[in-house]
Amino acid sequence: MAIDTAASESTMRPTHPLEALTAAEIETAMAVLREDGRLTDAARFAYFGLDEPPKDVVAGFAAGDPVERRVRVVIVPGPAADVVEGVVDVGGRAVQSWHELPGMRPAMLFEESFNAIVALNESPEWQAALAQRGITDQSKVQIDPWPPGSFGLALEEGRRISRCLAYYRETDTDNGYARPIEGLVGFVDVGRGEVLEVADHGVVPLPPERGGYLRDDVGPMRDDLKPIEITQPEGPSFTVDGNLVRWQRWSLRVAMDPYEGLVLHTIGYEDDGRVRPILHRASVSEMVVPYGHTGPMHNWKNAFDAGEWGLGRMANSLTLGCDCVGVVHYLDVTFGNERGDPYTIENAICMHEEDYSILWKHVDLHGGTTEVRRQRRLVISSIATVGNYEYGFYWYFYLDGSMQLEVKLTGVMSTMAVAEGDGAPNGAGNAELVAPQLAAPYHQHLFNVRLDFDVDGTANTVYEVDSVPEPGGPDNPLANAFTTEATPLATEKRAQRVVDPARSRVWKIVNPETHNHLGEPVGYKLVPASTPTLLASPESSVGRRAAFATRNLWVTPYRPDERRAAGDYPNQNSGGDGLPRWTAADRSIVDTDVVVWHTFGVTHIPRPEDWPVMPVESTGFLLAPVGFFDRNPALDVPPSPDHCDEGT
Ligand code: CU
Repeated sequence: MAIDTAASESTMRPTHPLEALTAAEIETAMAVLREDGRLTDAARFAYFGLDEPPKDVVAGFAAGDPVERRVRVVIVPGPAADVVEGVVDVGGRAVQSWHELPGMRPAMLFEESFNAIVALNESPEWQAALAQRGITDQSKVQIDPWPPGSFGLALEEGRRISRCLAYYRETDTDNGYARPIEGLVGFVDVGRGEVLEVADHGVVPLPPERGGYLRDDVGPMRDDLKPIEITQPEGPSFTVDGNLVRWQRWSLRVAMDPYEGLVLHTIGYEDDGRVRPILHRASVSEMVVPYGHTGPMHNWKNAFDAGEWGLGRMANSLTLGCDCVGVVHYLDVTFGNERGDPYTIENAICMHEEDYSILWKHVDLHGGTTEVRRQRRLVISSIATVGNYEYGFYWYFYLDGSMQLEVKLTGVMSTMAVAEGDGAPNGAGNAELVAPQLAAPYHQHLFNVRLDFDVDGTANTVYEVDSVPEPGGPDNPLANAFTTEATPLATEKRAQRVVDPARSRVWKIVNPETHNHLGEPVGYKLVPASTPTLLASPESSVGRRAAFATRNLWVTPYRPDERRAAGDYPNQNSGGDGLPRWTAADRSIVDTDVVVWHTFGVTHIPRPEDWPVMPVESTGFLLAPVGFFDRNPALDVPPSPDHCDEGT
């Protein structure tokens, strides 16, 4: 069942500075921009988002205060490699800032990607290359425009381009990735809709199997799954007011950015009658999918799916009973399209509660008591489809004060055709066969989350905490002892760190000014998973462009304009922007407003079981309180009344 606890947000005036942008605000921003006179007819729009107010404005805001609203917009003035960043004051109906950025490319635009497909379809060279492969019906060819990366080619210069790959679909509903049209890459100037080059690296026959995964493709469905129904007869335990969500002691604001996807603001926990801040803002700042294959069809593939496509722009409309089950509350999301018109993705964000096994338990053999409590979590999720892949983003909040981000990877792998009898799909050994004559190159999915911590206030310090053995000797006669080493990360360069599972390495964010009842500073720890860093060389193109992925941890002092780990414009960027540029100053990060950047993800060595559609693989991290509370904060969770409260 779906619930609707909030009125239609789009028709209401925002009552808080961090509420989501409305259609009316986007329309006003466009009207102001048109009146301003600097927009060209050819202009397109790569981004509309809330220009977030400074933190002190948010912190000082009281209900009923006037709300200032500004819209941030990225304008693409024409076909060249230029963008303009504008900020429009909606209430004052004025263009507040206008910055021209020559040589910068926006993310891939949908309209231009479509134009690239049209241009290739009309290209005689493209048609000839297809004909050489026996393909004459172009309606059976799926063209995927890819962000091209940055490799110093002459045709990249001064242009916004795409490299296009092609796949063969016998029918409309075929799985195109089952039959890559290997060897063929189309280079298109997407701004001008011109085919620049059709590169043909040689014909490889289409793989024989169609790789279907639809119900009709796979034969009889299993018929022995009994229903699981989730019911909450009294409704869920959370409330939604605009984009303010309250659940148990937690409170936070939920929004979606076109590039970052889900954005959570002002995450706090009510303790002793007051809301204690933990995070001002949390979001996925960037992600990259670098491919590890040596061949010319695949060695340039490095998709920045946040900054080059957009985890919000690609968000699905979610479906009850499929994407989320139980008592679900959806939030719609309003964005501006490339022509400047507002549009809505319905049910883009899903919220629900899940039972999550036990929270705590003890059987007291002496006292004869058995106490057990159920854990549950609030889930805030969205799913983005970026070309062949799906990424599900799931933020979890738990009864014990911990929170977590889980990213679920699914969809269809990017593939390559290999010649019959070519048992090893390539000499270098960086792809795996997943079906006859079909291989999937090795690749990684590396995400970077930006965590603007405010643990009980803005002045925080980050410690790296390792658990280490102590040498045997007079002080440790049985050589069993181990201890912890907590190292404050004093400056940005010293805070560029990697995981160390053998030392149970965690990073602890503490407020040095606020102490718990044991006299220790209150804190939260970031518990990383066993997670890789970038395997491509730091000197490679992707190594320079995705330098954020060479470390699992970065820490910076808060700056509102330092938002995305690879910079604001990763598309065709030659690299060095974002974290490496900002942290070159090696600023102090002690007892200040810190931002923690955590890179995590998976290295994907494809399996036959990942084909034709990949079962979910998970990655993520945990944030858990460390001395933030004086004791287990979930002692007051009552026993589940129907099942295990023997006293009633
Ligand atoms: Cu993968």
